[in-house]
Amino acid sequence: MSNPSLLILAGDGIGPEVMAEVKKIIGWFGKKRGIAFDVSEDLVGGCAYDVHGVPLADTTMAKAQAVDAVLLGAVGGPNYDKLDFSLKPERGLLRLRKEMDLYANLRPAQCFDALADFSSLKREVVAGLDVMIVRELTSGVYFGEPKEITDLGGGQKRAVDTQVYETYEIERIADVAFDLARKRSNLVHSAEKRNVMKTGVLWKEVVSQVHEREFKDVTLEHQLADSGGMQLVRNPKQFDVIVTDNLFGDLLSDIAAMLTGSLGMLASASLGEADPKTKKRKALYEPVHGSAPDIAGKGVANPIAMIASFGMALRYSFDLGAEADAIDTAIAKVLDKGLRTGDIMSAGCKQVSTAEMGSAILAELETILG
Ligand code: IPM
Ligand code: MG
Repeated sequence: MSNPSLLILAGDGIGPEVMAEVKKIIGWFGKKRGIAFDVSEDLVGGCAYDVHGVPLADTTMAKAQAVDAVLLGAVGGPNYDKLDFSLKPERGLLRLRKEMDLYANLRPAQCFDALADFSSLKREVVAGLDVMIVRELTSGVYFGEPKEITDLGGGQKRAVDTQVYETYEIERIADVAFDLARKRSNLVHSAEKRNVMKTGVLWKEVVSQVHEREFKDVTLEHQLADSGGMQLVRNPKQFDVIVTDNLFGDLLSDIAAMLTGSLGMLASASLGEADPKTKKRKALYEPVHGSAPDIAGKGVANPIAMIASFGMALRYSFDLGAEADAIDTAIAKVLDKGLRTGDIMSAGCKQVSTAEMGSAILAELETILG
């Protein structure tokens, strides 16, 4: 049997720095644990534009379709601000999500005990927090047509984005959310804006039908997305799984990230439909944080979200749950020992570089897995 395959797209800004720490772990799994991956690397985002004139080359797209999982760092940066919309680094990421049909974006927000005091909320509000945001990722206002700016003359323009959802798109993301809830605390909050948006009306209707049909054992609450945001900072521990559309999921997951202390802590998995024969899903794993151009190249970025994203790959693409658990435990241990990158630094802790944080997590992993 051939090794499982991974395509690494480190991307821009801090992407390559945080990815370097994952590569250390991948190397260690190969050498010491007999879990070898066939790793290839390619370009996405601004760095792809610099070489190919597009943020994602067709050859890279084809590689992504062929591998078992893609690991992505981050895209974007100030050098690319003036590019035409169709060539912006983000378009490379959006093309990957769309063409691989990665409709289910899982964004777990867990507050490590060692960081509970670092959140902008009080310790008792966030300690022990474990929320899973399930974001629809291939439809909604990100991809709906028309999407354009029209010149109306006389110095006036009209910009249009289209929010669109079809029944099957809501059904399949609801399925994922209910399924996950069954393995967790059996509670799903569905967030939309049915009070002002037709897509919100359909969203609620379809989520309710899926619930009624297949998941009556799971508790379902409907929530207006704005109120959901408010509740997420008021009392986040009332949530277990939150299922929502592409745009609301983008917003709510950034909020959830800060509950855990830093945007540098949140991992994500983007999954496609399971193949009926192999049961395998197309998959891409990436941290929720962006390319952070202000700190890029300085070796100070937090690699934890990227490492935890690799952990999610082990869990969801490679059926290596014990190894994924070990990564999570190693991260918690390193934080317990007081090691911190700048974004999560607090009094009495030891500030370390990206590479030192990565090495410390790997050292814990060696102790745990032996
Ligand atoms: C995210 C990011 C992306 C998004 C950007 C980089 C296109 O913010 O993954 O949350 O808006 O989806
Ligand atoms: Mg975002």
